[in-house]
Amino acid sequence: ERTTVVVVGAGPAGLTVAGLLLRLGIPCTVLERRPRSRVEQRQRAGIVEHRAVRMFEEWGLAERVVGGFPYDGVLEVRVDGESRLLDETGLAERLEARLCPQQVLVQRLIAACLEDGGDLRFEAAEVTLHGVTGEQPVVRYRDADGVAHEIACDLVAGCDGDHGVSRASIPDGVLTAYPFDHGIAWLTVLADAAPPRHPLLAVSRHGFAAHFARGPRASRFYLQVPLGDGPDDWPEDRVRQQLRARLGSDDGPPPGTVTEKEVFRLRSVVHEPMSHGRLHLVGDAAHIISPMGGKGMNLALYEAEVFARAVRDLVRDGDDAGLRSYSAVCLQRAWNYQEFSRWMTEMLHDAGDDTRTGPFRRRLARARLDRLSTSRASAGAFAELMAGLA
Ligand code: APR
Repeated sequence: ERTTVVVVGAGPAGLTVAGLLLRLGIPCTVLERRPRSRVEQRQRAGIVEHRAVRMFEEWGLAERVVGGFPYDGVLEVRVDGESRLLDETGLAERLEARLCPQQVLVQRLIAACLEDGGDLRFEAAEVTLHGVTGEQPVVRYRDADGVAHEIACDLVAGCDGDHGVSRASIPDGVLTAYPFDHGIAWLTVLADAAPPRHPLLAVSRHGFAAHFARGPRASRFYLQVPLGDGPDDWPEDRVRQQLRARLGSDDGPPPGTVTEKEVFRLRSVVHEPMSHGRLHLVGDAAHIISPMGGKGMNLALYEAEVFARAVRDLVRDGDDAGLRSYSAVCLQRAWNYQEFSRWMTEMLHDAGDDTRTGPFRRRLARARLDRLSTSRASAGAFAELMAGLA
């Protein structure tokens, strides 16, 4: 078998790469380890930034992929129970960000790829990459029936996330990792509770909290929790009591509506460079961004486009400049978004519970937060980053 691009992984990154390549008429095969149903159910938060929506529009995919999920671009920050609205309006004539849950985006990207005649292979086990630094890489895998396959290709897009095989197959010493532990843990609570009017972030003495929509009737809550706590330390009553204290309202989940609880630690990492021979890493395979600011998925979408355009130049014109600069171009935005995410993480945590960082840092964080309401330039810079325009 032969194709132009083998895409490993069918998350937002891999599916977007495939979707764009299909629009260009460039042959590609997607190999995904999990069954389609599993991939479609994986829940994550999702603001599709203005820039990414524009991108889908340019490629003629917006209606099918992010249609029907309006977002007015307003974010609410509640400081000690008092509401402040941060908004992206005024940045562009037509603000195009969407509040689209990631699993919906994934489901729709799969549907769009299949409609466009895409070759998506789920339950592809034991994917291995060979000869990526040579002229003709080969990707091997085993299908659901245990039958071995081999695909020769010109390029491999490593879109298989932080624990995938793509980055792992690059020899030691080639990549440099830049990890960072924010020293913060969040409890995620999924509940059948009414979503907030705007994505809501809350700062208070009790610690950070957030409330996001995850559908018309369901919510996702986040609570900063002490390091070392597990989900069992947070029974529903405690969750409700703390949400009330932090949000300054009764917007928490009504009794008996919590469907899932999980604790995770905020961390970030970047692996450089993002290319190795004919293997190019896209999305989480190359970096993890802490969830604050919602940039992880948006960065993956950006990189998918940079990659697709570079492949187009190679296939149409024999021009490999785009692929040669792929890593540098992507890393520039990756670090820009890392900085934004860290800036926001620090501000919204330090301004609250100061047992970790102390009273001086608390006041600095509050000054930073206040500036978003008192300085137009500051608010503008924030909005630009939220929209993906900076
Ligand atoms: N072989 C094939 N597929 C694999 C392998 C493998 N060895 N390892 C992982 N995968 C698949 C996973 O099952 C998953 O479907 O690769 C996909 C990677 O998807 P994500 O982890 O979602 O990564 P990415 O597409 O880069 O996501 C970008 O969306 O999910 C969020 O946190 C993520 O914000 C980030 C963004």
